[in-house]
Formats: sequence, structure tokens, C-alpha cells
Amino acid sequence: MYHLIIDCDPGHDDIIASMVAMAHPETFDILGFTTVAGNQTLEKVTSNLLKVQTLLETDYPVSMGYDVPIIKALEVQPLAHGESGLDGPALPKAERKVTGLHAIEFMRETLKRSPEKVTFLCIGPLTNMALFLKTYPYLKEKIEAIAIMGGAVNSGNIRLKSEFNIYHDPEAAKIVFASGVKIIMAGLEVCYAGSIHLSEAEQANGRGRASQLFYDLMQFYDRYAIDRGWDRTAIFDMTPLIYLLKPELFETREYEVHIELDGEYTRGMTVVDLAKTENLLHPVTVLWDVKREEFIQVLFDSLDILDRRYQ
Ligand code: RIB
Ligand code: CA
Repeated sequence: MYHLIIDCDPGHDDIIASMVAMAHPETFDILGFTTVAGNQTLEKVTSNLLKVQTLLETDYPVSMGYDVPIIKALEVQPLAHGESGLDGPALPKAERKVTGLHAIEFMRETLKRSPEKVTFLCIGPLTNMALFLKTYPYLKEKIEAIAIMGGAVNSGNIRLKSEFNIYHDPEAAKIVFASGVKIIMAGLEVCYAGSIHLSEAEQANGRGRASQLFYDLMQFYDRYAIDRGWDRTAIFDMTPLIYLLKPELFETREYEVHIELDGEYTRGMTVVDLAKTENLLHPVTVLWDVKREEFIQVLFDSLDILDRRYQ
């Protein structure tokens, strides 16, 4: 059982990852969500999560975090997620409210109260996670692991060698990767290996409330791939979550990972030290490859489980 806090910037793939987690209460005890600015402003990503919880009739605590990176300016991503941050589905007016606690205070209270260690799923920029670790270092002992969608072994999406979540707040990433807490890293390459074929997403249409939300999300999210002539797309944020659920689907490797803060072409790069395979100081579990068909089947099985809750 993972006692889970999901730190996110919804974001289409953030919502899909969260739905997979919600479908598996036998594995995930979701303690709450914290939101961070990234794909869109803090207000918008938080509103998106509250609206989706209204639609799905869930009521997990939601606490708002930082609205800007530690040093860098905010750079939202309307191209991938739209002006709202969750363009596509017609969402209901939010009938949920935030806790009123700042994200790092929610994290502090939750870890102090939890009799078990807590796992963080970080699927947006790492601003909240970093400043929590800096503010309450004594609570590191209550953290089981930090599972991150972020970085890459040797590629980039927002920049030549930088992935969005890391690039958006590289100082935060440096703090998290240097914290000594166990880190599981789902970089771009393993996310691409788990890509969904655009035709596969069609099967969700009309199957049920959760499947329909997924289908409607993908109608917008797929455009980024279609506009580039691709026949598949990566649902990035569900990758570290499905690793926690089904680690047997993945190949992993242990490496030291450093965060580059400087460099015209490399700021926000995760430098994975492939040359060092022994005497590792703080090895990161780098997700290296995934069995694509089984990985995608976990998504559809999870949507089926959620659909049955509304029948
Ligand atoms: O690079 C992919 C990441 O950036 C995902 O978390 C997506 O939601 C965006 O935040
Ligand atoms: Ca995200």
C-alpha cells in the first residue's frame, strides 16, 4: 500500500494519471493533492482539479502551492494543454473547495499525522516538493520515495536537452535530486516507450463516465501529435504511477542524476551519469523501458473500474 500525495499541474496527463490512482484503492491510499503552477497558472490548474473531482464525485483534499518557480519566470504551456490547462472536456462548475492550507503545510501535517511513510507522486514542476524539503528537512524520514515524471536520459521536449517539469524550475529539481530521499525518475524516453496509439484511445468513447472524460481529454491532447504527423502520443504523468502499481512491466537502472542550472542549451537538463555504475552516492531509480501493450492495458482496465462506480 502506498500512502500517496499527488503534486500536480493538471494538465491532461496529470488527470489521467490521477484517475489510474483513484481506480486502485487496494494499492493507493490517496492522502490528497497539491497543485503547482506549470502547465497553466496555479489558479487554473487548481480549478481544473476541483472541476474533475466534481465530475468524478471524489473529494480528496486539494491544497494550493507555489504560483511561480523559485528563480525562473512562469512559462505556461497553452500549446499542449490549452488556455484553461485542460481544454477539451466540458467540465461542471466546481463544487469542491481547496483546504485553505498551503501545499507545504498540507504536506507537513499529513506526514506528521501518518503512522506510515508517505510516497509523493510529483508530476509537475518540483517547486512545492523542493520548498517542503527545505522548510521541513526533519520530515524526510517520513518519506518512502518521490516518484517523478521529469527529465530525460538524453533528449528534451521543451528545449533540446530539457524536459518541461525540470526546465520549468531547475533550482527546485536540484534541491529534490540532492535531498537524499529515494527518487524514481520517469524521463521522456520511457514515457515515449509507453505511448498510446491515437487509434487505441478511440475505444474509450461512450463506455462510461471516466472513459468519456479520458476520451474527451484525448480529443484535445492528441492534436499536438496529429499536428506533427505522429500516430501516437505519450501520456507522460501516468508512467511513474503505473510503475508503482506494476513495477514488473518496467526495466529500471540505477544512476546518479545531476541537474544542470547553467548553459544556453542545457539549463534544466537531467545529467544521467551513464559512466558510473558503482559506489553511487544517491542512486536514482531511472525507468528505462516498459512493456507498452501491458502498460496501456493498465490504463483501460483502470478506466473500466472507474466506469463501474457510476453504473
Ligand atoms: O514533459 C511532460 C510534463 O510536462 C508532464 O507533467 C505534463 O503534464 C507537463 O507538465
Ligand atoms: Ca504534469
